[in-house]
Amino acid sequence: MSDLTALSLPHIAKLHAYTPGLQPTERGWTKLNTNECPYAPSPRVAEALRREIGEDGASLRLYPSPQSSPLRAAIASHHGEGLTAENVCVGNGSDDILNLLIRAFCTQEAAAGYTLPSYSLYPVLIEIQDGATQVIEFDRAMRLPLDRIAASTARAFFLTSPNAPTGVAFANADLERVLASFRGLLVVDEAYAPFATENAVPLLARYPNVVVVRTLSKAYALAGIRVGYALAHPEIIGLLDRVRDSYNVNRLSQVAALAALGDTAYYSGVVEKIKATRDRCIRGFSTHRGWFTYESQANFIFTEPKNALGESGPAISKSAYDFLFAHKVLVRHFPKHALTAPFLRISVGTDDEMLVLNETLDAWLKTTNA
Ligand SMILES: Cc1ncc(COP(=O)(O)O)c(C=O)c1O
Repeated sequence: MSDLTALSLPHIAKLHAYTPGLQPTERGWTKLNTNECPYAPSPRVAEALRREIGEDGASLRLYPSPQSSPLRAAIASHHGEGLTAENVCVGNGSDDILNLLIRAFCTQEAAAGYTLPSYSLYPVLIEIQDGATQVIEFDRAMRLPLDRIAASTARAFFLTSPNAPTGVAFANADLERVLASFRGLLVVDEAYAPFATENAVPLLARYPNVVVVRTLSKAYALAGIRVGYALAHPEIIGLLDRVRDSYNVNRLSQVAALAALGDTAYYSGVVEKIKATRDRCIRGFSTHRGWFTYESQANFIFTEPKNALGESGPAISKSAYDFLFAHKVLVRHFPKHALTAPFLRISVGTDDEMLVLNETLDAWLKTTNA
């Protein structure tokens, strides 16, 4: 360890940083690795940004609304369910919100819980905070281990629903069984909820310890704008505001998010298209190819490739990943966990992109005949 690293806090010196999915800059990739939306955002977004920048960008001299106030109000009315601006905190992406939750609720004495597999940022945020963790493992069925979560003594438990990287969603009835005895904060990370049949927003009115986290990065096609938010009891929102950067969401992002939320008709069309492509792909993988594939309620598919001899496993999925990569088709492989290593996570792209994916997988299969 260098002298400079030794100056840092010991838990930072040995920190395992989060590995984001690759973002290639050259053209020609079929990019199905980070669950971005394959379609453009509502045209109202670019119009609103142009209007905000104006001829000379003069508005950029000024700091943005520190609370993202107009956006908080718009998010509350977008969800209805009796929510007001006091129930909303906006972040620089939902990652910012997750970070604020860990900052406010997790230390060595107050553990944060999460399931494995789930979003791999949670353990990194907890490690940054030098906090304690409680990890609850799924088995291959990926059904919610609700009794174990209910019995958890975590101060805050992070549940991804629909889950990543499987796409499996958890029913509100199951969340309510957890909430019947769990006394910590239940954070339901709903990054992919717009693609699911149910979501936890209706639970907020009855359970003050529920926090719902959303993002505009997926269904709203605004990953580059970095806007996410928490819906929760006003007291929890007040705590997040105490630990938040004063201007955590920039002026252009606030404007873009407001314009996007105003165009519900456009986005329901986008979500329906993605769901139709997803369901066709799941049928293609499970029925046509005979690959085990989870029933995803997200905008990605988690499938277990089989080679031409009908074999599956970590080496087979790695071989498919490498072949796809060599042919400029980018998907995601999670080799570190036994439950995820035999699978590939494939973001749902346009129908044309899924055709390229399928043709490249057919070409891979031919190489596995030997
Ligand atoms: C489950 C989950 N939560 C949160 C995020 C972060 O999204 P954002 O772009 O809003 O930071 C992601 C991104 O992939 C995710 O998969």
